[in-house]
This record gives sequence, C-alpha cells and structure tokens, in this order.
Amino acid sequence: MWTYTQPTEISFGVGARKSLPEIAARFGSRSVLVTDCALCELPMVAETLNALGDGAVMFSNVEPNPQVTSVDALAELLVSHGAEVCVAIGGGSSLDCAKAACSVALQGGPTREYHSEGVALGPEHLPLIAIPTTAGTGSEVTPISVLDDPLKNIKAPLTHPNFFPKVALIDPELTLTKPRTVTASTGLDALAHAIEGYWSKNHQPICDTLAKEAVRLVFEHLPRVLEDGSDLAAREGMSLAALLGGLAFQLPKNAAVHACSFPLSSDYHLAHGTACAMTLDLFCRYNAPAMGERGGALAAAGRFKSMEALADGIAHIKANSGLPTRLREIGVTEAELDSIVEGSFHPLMNNNPRPITPEVLRELYAGIL
Ligand SMILES: [Fe+2]
Repeated sequence: MWTYTQPTEISFGVGARKSLPEIAARFGSRSVLVTDCALCELPMVAETLNALGDGAVMFSNVEPNPQVTSVDALAELLVSHGAEVCVAIGGGSSLDCAKAACSVALQGGPTREYHSEGVALGPEHLPLIAIPTTAGTGSEVTPISVLDDPLKNIKAPLTHPNFFPKVALIDPELTLTKPRTVTASTGLDALAHAIEGYWSKNHQPICDTLAKEAVRLVFEHLPRVLEDGSDLAAREGMSLAALLGGLAFQLPKNAAVHACSFPLSSDYHLAHGTACAMTLDLFCRYNAPAMGERGGALAAAGRFKSMEALADGIAHIKANSGLPTRLREIGVTEAELDSIVEGSFHPLMNNNPRPITPEVLRELYAGIL
C-alpha cells in the first residue's frame, strides 16, 4: 500500500526564471524576495527583485544554516509589508527559511514554539515561489524546513504539508556561478536524497524510479560540472538530478545519512551537503547487506556493479573535489564521538534499512575518524 502526492507546480528549463513576473502576478503584487547575505549582491538577485516590480521588498538576512530567529524576522516583514506572495531565491537555506516564515507570518511566532517536537502548525500560510540557485537540496519540491535553534543547540527539520512551495521555478543557468566545492557538496546532497529515499523503510515504487534516475544523472553529470563549471548541459543534468532526488525522498523520507548530518553541521558548521557526504559512502557499505537485489539495482543505476563500488564512486568524488573525508579534518576528536553519536539519533535513523545501535554507530564513526 502506498500513495504518491506532489502539490508543487514545477517549471523547469534554461531561462525558466523569465516567467517569474507572470507566475508571481497570479498571487498578487505585494511580495517579499528572500535570499542570503552571500547572494544578495549578485546581479541575479537584483534582476529577480526588478522582475517582481514596485510592490517587492528584499529580505537578505538568511544564514547558511537558517535559525528560528531569522524565520521570525522574515515572518514579521511578510506581515508588515502586507505580502501576498513570498519568493525565495538561493540554496536550501533561503528556501527553508521562507517555507517556515510563510506559515509563521499568519499563525504568529515565535518559530521556536513549533520547532523540534513543538506545537503543531495550523493550515494558514502565504504562497511561496521557490527558485533554487544550487543543484542539491530539492527543497523547492519538499515540505521540509531544516532550522537551527542555537538556544537549544538543535538543528532539525520542521515539516508541514503547507510548506510545499506553490511553484518551483528551476533555471539551471542560475547554478552556473557556483564554486566547485559548493557544486560537489550540493550534488552529493542530491545523491544522498535519491539513495536515502530509495533505501528508506518507507520506499515505494514511484520514488524508487525517480531515485534511480537521479543516481544515473548524478554520476553522468557531476564529474562533468566538477571538471567544467560552465558546462550548461551538465548543469541542467544536475538541476534535474536535484529535482528528482527531492521528489524521491519527500515521501519516504531520509535515513541514517541525514540523521548523522545534523550534529555534524550544527556542531562543526559543515554545509548540509558536506555533512551528508561525510557518511554517505559509509552507509552505502553498512546498508548493503540489508538491501539484497534492491541494492544491486540502485548501484546499477549509477553504472556500478555493487553497493561497495557505488560507495567507492562517492568516495572518489569527495576526494577529488576537496570535501573532507575524515572526521579529524573538521576538528572532531575521539573524546567527542559519544556526543556526536548521541546527536545522531534523530527519528530519521528509524528509517534506515539496517538497524543501528549507539555502539555500532560509534564504531562506524571511529572508522572514519
Ligand atoms: Fe539533504
């Protein structure tokens, strides 16, 4: 028994961003454009603000790991500006911050009350148009907002059906300027979504199909964009891989790799994709015995003979793109392993196809120290 739903309208292709004025006008003329501090100076953001017309204002204070307090600040601006629509342009952080703010704006804050097993959000929310500038998170088609609460020292997803953007506007040209390390980190996040959606205990046939195609696309196009970042056809392939990866995990949900990414990114300030990449090959090896023929089919999608070979392929990409491959490289000491193990037991761990105990996880982490 399974169901498949995907409420977000998807507009994909080189130049797709040019349709923003007509799409935004469906919802109203007063808008808030959300982006992060690193992107706000770039011409693509000025062009987007311009395309939204006189009724648009900008919010550019989103951090790389968005905090609950930034969601509160954006929600306040959405209310004070009388926004009819929110437009988020950027990586997962801008999109995630906007998703939560579109609900909090109409339901009242603070966001901290809803985050991390808090009060349930209600149905009211503002429409969101999501424009990704990285090929990785798939956030443009998921109802998940990963937020940081430094007061509670927690980085965790906040999820609600109303967080689905109304429209995902995916233009691969916007990813052309991404540096090599960001391209590798976000590309491996897309791969992690495909693999985790596939091996999640809640896997289902439509998401399986999307996942295998995303794996194929990543291994065909990621080496090409790492070689030549201006290869637009390969960038388009990675944007499609990220989209399909997002669609592949949003129902089955992620598993051990993402559970382990939370302490690695909140305590050691790793970008989300880099934190996922840290254990992705490790769990390909660990989960292989629990996957049987399904593991072989997943590996074959990437043109590998086995899950072990798939893991080697991931390790090769990490080593060749300057991403960390050992925990010591990001400052972890042996004495800190117990606390990382404790922080890794997010509920997503229960989706993993092979059971993991704290003792097993400590041993796995020790193996990559
Ligand atoms: Fe992710």
